[in-house]
Amino acid sequence: MNIGVFDSGLGGLTIFKELLKTLPQYDYIYLGDNARVPYGGRSPAVIYEFTRQAVDFLLKKDCQLVILACNTASTNALRRLQQEYLPARYPDRRVLGIVLPSVEAVTENNARRVGIIATWATVNSGSFVREIKKINEEIEVLQQAGPLLVPFIEEGETSGPFLEAILRRYLTPLVDANIDSLILGCTHYELIKEAVKKIAGPAVWVVSEGEVVAAKLKKYLARHQVIDKKLGKEGKRQYFVTDYSQRYHDLVKLFLDDHFSAGQKLELVTI
Ligand code: DGL
Repeated sequence: MNIGVFDSGLGGLTIFKELLKTLPQYDYIYLGDNARVPYGGRSPAVIYEFTRQAVDFLLKKDCQLVILACNTASTNALRRLQQEYLPARYPDRRVLGIVLPSVEAVTENNARRVGIIATWATVNSGSFVREIKKINEEIEVLQQAGPLLVPFIEEGETSGPFLEAILRRYLTPLVDANIDSLILGCTHYELIKEAVKKIAGPAVWVVSEGEVVAAKLKKYLARHQVIDKKLGKEGKRQYFVTDYSQRYHDLVKLFLDDHFSAGQKLELVTI
């Protein structure tokens, strides 16, 4: 069986790349719902429904485990999928999100004042604040939505003066409040990490979700042998998208580098 990795678009590839580096032996299916990206400005009900359709597609493709490599989906759909959908439809399968690994990373690093930059839907869910406070309620958490960033990144605009001007507007309130750590709470933002670091300055630790998620998944699989035994380990990869264009194909190649070979197909699906 496979490990499924889902994102609303390209952003999840930043998580996927780290999974391929850390756990290359497994068989994976990546699904990007690029026909409907961005999810970040939508309502929780719509985000749940889109995510449920994506997860259903991956479970039917024989995924034992699905990673929601999208904070917007993790914060707006994960709990309901785990509590209602899976028990009723696929009781032996698992769906995991990506919020907890970065929350644990900052609390383990003794952060005192944490900034979160994410989509509107993630900010409005309050999930990051809740999860950090559950571990240590003295940590101060400041949130900032960055709604213009995902469309920029999906266009391949990952550096330059326009991007920096937008970033400065979003990050200045957090930097002025003296945050010591910044969680890039949207998988797309990993692609602009260098620009973020430049504006946040050397005193702010910028957390990479991909690396922490991959490390946590490795530990999870070691702890859950029943699941691990079911997973195929032939290094197979399949890629599905809900909208296809040559531009999208080229962007996938750009973001995954050598992990996306010349002959690798990107298949168009309806979910
Ligand atoms: N990549 C998604 C996330 O991590 C959001 C992008 C979108 O708005 O669809 O939040």
